[in-house]
Amino acid sequence: MEIPQLIMLPGPTNVHPRVYAAMCKPMIDHRSKEFRVLYMRLLESVKKVFQTENDVFILTSSGTGGVECAASNLLLPGEKIILPVAGNFGERFAESFSNYGIKVIRINIEPGKSPKLEQIEAAIRNNPDAKAVAIIYNETSTGTTVRDLSKICKMAKDLGMITIVDAISILGGDDLPVDEWEVDFCIAASQKCLAAPPGLALVSVSRDAWKLIERAKPRSDYFDLIKYRKYRDEQKETPFTPAINLFYALDEAINIVLEYGFDKWIERHKITSKAYYSAIFAMGLPFLAEEWCRSNTVIAVKMPNGIPAKLLRELLAEKYRVVVAGGFGGLRNSIFRIGNMGLINPRDILTTLSSIESAFFELGYPIKSGIEAAIPILKNLD
Ligand SMILES: Cc1ncc(COP(=O)(O)O)c(C=O)c1O
Repeated sequence: MEIPQLIMLPGPTNVHPRVYAAMCKPMIDHRSKEFRVLYMRLLESVKKVFQTENDVFILTSSGTGGVECAASNLLLPGEKIILPVAGNFGERFAESFSNYGIKVIRINIEPGKSPKLEQIEAAIRNNPDAKAVAIIYNETSTGTTVRDLSKICKMAKDLGMITIVDAISILGGDDLPVDEWEVDFCIAASQKCLAAPPGLALVSVSRDAWKLIERAKPRSDYFDLIKYRKYRDEQKETPFTPAINLFYALDEAINIVLEYGFDKWIERHKITSKAYYSAIFAMGLPFLAEEWCRSNTVIAVKMPNGIPAKLLRELLAEKYRVVVAGGFGGLRNSIFRIGNMGLINPRDILTTLSSIESAFFELGYPIKSGIEAAIPILKNLD
């Protein structure tokens, strides 16, 4: 019997039936009035979730396209950026810039910790000629969040550097007022806290970022932001054929978020993450992330007693129909990760927690129940 799976991954996430329905609308010409209306409306919606008046663009690519867009547009070969690496996505971030000949000044952070203001400040002091600070706001591989991000952005701005922020696994799930925090280049993706299907990257570009782009000249044709701006301004269109059905989907997904209230949507993620952390703590399972930098959107849990995460994940997916993620690299089998993103609700959280408890029991490692710890936290959630 095929019971639909509950997708509790750190992306992609469960998608609302309204969004699936929107995706099935008939095809339109991407050089037509209908598309232009959709595109302009969607850009305005995307600005709302970035909380910005800066330019925003929607790229037909997964989140990595947004990263590649930053790497290919902002800087010249040989220029320096400061980039903390706190996990797998930090590694990939560094590689994306190196691939374009940019000199990456790495700050290595232990798994489970997150870069702090003082570490960035020291790197800037040693590299005053760096052009940018590039940061993964939420390191999805370890479940950690850069809690000093607003201070880091302010410091970088004061010192004449731009900030490039990968907010792929957090935009919509935690605070990120792009204008208030003065983030110059912010990257998000459709399939995480906005609960749309995968396939679109979203970027915001400040005036200071534009100055660098105009000077460096984009080195990617597909992600050429000058071309994106020109097409938007002259034609209200994208330079290349966009994933029209995903544009419909994102439009509807953001409508759902905005109807609910964007601040409330973020607050919801904070409440549900608290429920997860309290319940899993009560189960007696340890977390990978240190408490001060724990993510609201990715809960990374260490496996007890040498049990491989693969066994737990397979049992959860096949029997309980609940899909959670494993770790990356050396952490592949020693942690599992739950996505707390998008359409999160008490039913799915309690199902996930009780399925984990049952699966551990079946694996011969009975744990204490954490449900009672989650219930009072979820009580006031609508
Ligand atoms: C922090 C972060 N950066 C980049 C990516 C890559 O995004 P995508 O898989 O959409 O290309 C991810 C994906 O999970 C991510 O979590």
